[in-house]
Amino acid sequence: MSTEAPTRRTTAPAIRARKGKEPIVALTSYHAHTAAIVDRHADVILVGDSLGMVMHGMESTVGVPLDLMIMHGRAVMRGTRRALVVVDMPFGTYEESPQMAFRNAARIMKETGCGAVKLEGGARMAETIRFLVERGIPVMAHIGLTPQSVNTLGGFKTQGRDPDTWPIFEEDARAVAEAGAFSIVLEGMVEPLAARITKQVPIPTIGIGASVECDGQILVLEDMLGLNPRPPKFVKVYGRLLEEIENAVQSYAEDVRQRSFPTEDQVYR
Ligand code: KIV
Repeated sequence: MSTEAPTRRTTAPAIRARKGKEPIVALTSYHAHTAAIVDRHADVILVGDSLGMVMHGMESTVGVPLDLMIMHGRAVMRGTRRALVVVDMPFGTYEESPQMAFRNAARIMKETGCGAVKLEGGARMAETIRFLVERGIPVMAHIGLTPQSVNTLGGFKTQGRDPDTWPIFEEDARAVAEAGAFSIVLEGMVEPLAARITKQVPIPTIGIGASVECDGQILVLEDMLGLNPRPPKFVKVYGRLLEEIENAVQSYAEDVRQRSFPTEDQVYR
């Protein structure tokens, strides 16, 4: 029998309780082995629908199917033990009604074993967030630049450049917090607006391109690892994976061309 104490996963209420305390470290992951590394360092791992663009070469997140989110959610859960894993609800799976959102969120929770879901939208999604939370589904909200609305926003543009629009975003943040969201992603938002929202709501704000004024930060793992040839401007790049992969693949190709394969006795030892 193992004498090791079982690792307790971080919960949504534990993240909620981090408001104004130690900054929340969050990253996306879509894959078991990389998630295992992230799990040793991050509080929250998001299986974001950005995987449609990052892993599957889509132009936007609009076409991401629910089954794909569930498949990647399961992979990330298999690779991790301690971080809170949040799975994105993809476009078209929650907007129509709270009942539809519950059906799809319950599928995500049951089939992946994740600890929470994330959905995009502010005041307009408040009723749905309340419906899910009252039925046992922790919800991370997402406001500001909401990529699933790229077709109505007209592109991936920083939000809140005009201070006249700030009250709309502030109302969005208050509405999702009052509805019971345990945290809010603020994406692509000018710093003074992110600062105002962070002061106004009792739940943590987790920024992506929304300044240091938030209670934590989330980045897309591939962007910060240097695996995206054109990362967003706000991303600090910590690795050089594109270069590493290029060099490794080139060395491999040279080895194969020189017939430098493993010898028979090195195979399947
Ligand atoms: O899908 C995603 O990766 C996200 C983050 C950008 C927050 O929603």
